[in-house]
Amino acid sequence: MMQVNLISDTVTRPSVGMQQAMWEAAVGDDVFKEDPTVNALEAHLAQMFGKEAALFFPSGTMANQTAIKIHTQPGDQLICDTTAHVYNYEGGGVSFNSGVSCKLIAGDQGRISAVQVEQAINPPDFYHSPRTRLVCLENTTNKGGGACYSWQTIEEIASVCRENNLKLHLDGARLWNALVDTPEQTTAFGQVFDTLSICFSKGLGCPVGSALVGSEESIQAALKIRKILGGGMRQAGYLAAAALYALEHQWMDLKKDHQRAQEIGEQLSQVQGIAQVLPVHTNIVIFKLQKQLNTQTFINQMKSLGILLIAMDAQTLRMVTHRDYTAEQHAYVLEVLKTQDFSEGN
Ligand SMILES: Cc1ncc(COP(=O)(O)O)c(C=O)c1O
Repeated sequence: MMQVNLISDTVTRPSVGMQQAMWEAAVGDDVFKEDPTVNALEAHLAQMFGKEAALFFPSGTMANQTAIKIHTQPGDQLICDTTAHVYNYEGGGVSFNSGVSCKLIAGDQGRISAVQVEQAINPPDFYHSPRTRLVCLENTTNKGGGACYSWQTIEEIASVCRENNLKLHLDGARLWNALVDTPEQTTAFGQVFDTLSICFSKGLGCPVGSALVGSEESIQAALKIRKILGGGMRQAGYLAAAALYALEHQWMDLKKDHQRAQEIGEQLSQVQGIAQVLPVHTNIVIFKLQKQLNTQTFINQMKSLGILLIAMDAQTLRMVTHRDYTAEQHAYVLEVLKTQDFSEGN
């Protein structure tokens, strides 16, 4: 039976070209900042985003947590969507690492608006409330179903942040998906956000690696925090080479993932027992089962057919397309969704 893993876009293995690039990388000790490939990647990212500097990280979580740490003081508050990765899936790091609380906003598929941000800011002279210091946006949204912010909303939020002396951080774990049709927009993103975290280990297909991009001052501060968190790596050039390769050769392949996710979404909306499929924007498909259907039973039925997916919460499931999801696997998944009866499972 065909085996298909749609649990996440993090399940990919490095392509042959990527392995070659990694194998051939020139390396040095990056803790001494002497790894030429890491240095080249960081310089490349800074240039791409029109920022002064960038820093390579072992994970997106560490890059986000470092950004939160450098922008805040203990007792401060950040603003984010209720579904935000920094709030839900980073182990409580916001409070653990930074002593910061989150003011949660219920956005649209993980996207918050400038008006919502403005309303969530605590009055700075009201000493009873935590000081609002930072806004964290996610683009694309993960739990929100791969949705992308409109440029206008980002600019409006950035302007609220400027007016209220707030820092603005982007969790851009999947920013590559958001910008696949407009790669030239990276510089504009660099202009409006104080810091951006980006991941290479999701749709781009690298085995490990993220980065934080920002001003020279923030990246110097981030270097110290990365060290404290144990994120200084030695011959990390092998990993940075994968990231450079992915940017040059694999970024545009995301379009294929988006097309396939769209087709899965369309097919899912025809399946009996599925109450709702969230609009599909990129490579993430989120759908809700009708109340009488059991989520685990649905997952098990799909697993018995060789297809893996995960639950997001009680009635909600997620499928994610990625570069190791082949045309044959895609045809098989569409066929299963078309022909199987899921309505009885409970
Ligand atoms: C939106 C978002 N931000 C951050 C991360 C964290 O990345 P990592 O798993 O590399 O720590 C993820 C991981 O899936 C994510 O989806």
